[in-house]
Amino acid sequence: MTKTLRKAVLPVAGLGTRFLPATKATAKEMLPVVDKPLIQYAVEEARAAGIEQFCLVTGRGKTGIVEHFDVAFELEATLRERNKLRELAMLHESASEPGSIITVRQQVPLGLGHAIWCARAFVGDDPFAILLPDDLVLSETPCLKQLADVYAKTGGNVVAVTEVPREQTNRYGILEVGEDDGRLVEVRGLVEKPDPAVAPSNLSIIGRYVLVAEVMTHLARMERGAGNEVQLTDAMAKLIGRTPFHGLRYEGRRFDCGDKVGFLEAQIAFALKRPDLGPAVRRFLRDYTDEAVAAGA
Ligand code: G1P
Repeated sequence: MTKTLRKAVLPVAGLGTRFLPATKATAKEMLPVVDKPLIQYAVEEARAAGIEQFCLVTGRGKTGIVEHFDVAFELEATLRERNKLRELAMLHESASEPGSIITVRQQVPLGLGHAIWCARAFVGDDPFAILLPDDLVLSETPCLKQLADVYAKTGGNVVAVTEVPREQTNRYGILEVGEDDGRLVEVRGLVEKPDPAVAPSNLSIIGRYVLVAEVMTHLARMERGAGNEVQLTDAMAKLIGRTPFHGLRYEGRRFDCGDKVGFLEAQIAFALKRPDLGPAVRRFLRDYTDEAVAAGA
């Protein structure tokens, strides 16, 4: 019988060097898109997929993330005193259920696979989701919910996938594709960051996964892969043929918030969706575009 998906692991130990100086004293996962930190988008998306237990794999200088999901007692008291009820409600959204978030530390940066392995005691024998908070997805149905629905049917591994230009295969985990119905893809093989010349396809993994616990056994070997790091993709490849493994062409648009341009695009896309901000943002975008056209850009 398929075990229900209730757990998620969120690796948040990265240094965020691409966003210095903003990330000198703040975790990159705390950078806001409009007015909500990246990590909160990931946690809310997971909750919408039925996740109840979270494990944050943190590192040095990441305590702000843990604070964010705590109850801000003094702040709440002050807001209540000032009758700021809307703001108070917002705070409640980010506070977590008591005991639902735990943290483990990745003491040395040995790669994504190593970070996930650090959560092995939390995962135990259960299926679990992984969300990489740098990848933000704007969609009708939350991206992880789309994956969870596939998991509920297949009982196996599911990763979110999207086509990328050939020349970018060396930035992602890439699928070797079996049967493909246009939405669900059978995974025949997985390669981490292959050179475009040898990549088995241009179908790339984005930061949403549902995996069976067995992946931990393969990670435990600590074999080094691309970039001399312990790669999650390599451990996942070992599951192929043992449990069903699918890629899902999810509905939605993905923003790579680990990249400056992707992060700026996310700001605009999420702001445009907001009833309170959309009209003003649309107006200034038009003004900027007109200016750029006038300047011959
Ligand atoms: C990681 C994974 C890669 C995946 C990517 C998605 O790479 O190793 O397989 O395609 O996330 O964002 P990273 O971005 O950490 O280099």
